Amino acid sequence: MAIQRTFSIIKPDATKRNLTGAINAKIEAAGLRIIAQKRIHMTQKQAETFYGVHKERPFFGELVEFMISEPVVVQVLEGEDAIKTYRTVMGATNPADADEGTIRKEFAQSVGENSVHGSDAPETAAEEIAYFFSGLELVG
Ligand code: PPS
Repeated sequence: MAIQRTFSIIKPDATKRNLTGAINAKIEAAGLRIIAQKRIHMTQKQAETFYGVHKERPFFGELVEFMISEPVVVQVLEGEDAIKTYRTVMGATNPADADEGTIRKEFAQSVGENSVHGSDAPETAAEEIAYFFSGLELVG
């Protein structure tokens, strides 16, 4: 598998509890390199656009409210098979189903407040990276 890039968000429940460093340690231990990172406070419009694919789902409003409730850390991760590698390190969406040692098993509070987001495919990774970062901000 080639070197790949993925997009990550450290979500409000985690930034609020000062877990950015602990989550980054797990990312780096998995062999992923953080090649871009910034702390932002998303606007409602940014969150609604970012999660637009879920707009018909019953939890959409709750998801957007949560994502704008506190600052987040947006990141670009690079490494071997980065999309799958990161989703493995993240663990299942619902922390109750997440494997031991994963970020969500250790830190997530619920299916909504689940500490991290990671892209699910190469096309979405490219779109999500471009939504938050310019090419000049990616330092591989
Ligand atoms: S996944 O990983 O995309 O297959 O998961 P999915 O179940 O489709 O969920 C998509 C995102 O919605 C969030 N989510 C919720 N938020 C609030 N309340 C409820 N009940 C809920 N269920 C799912 C979930 O954390 C996913 O967020 P991201 O940021 O994409 O991981």
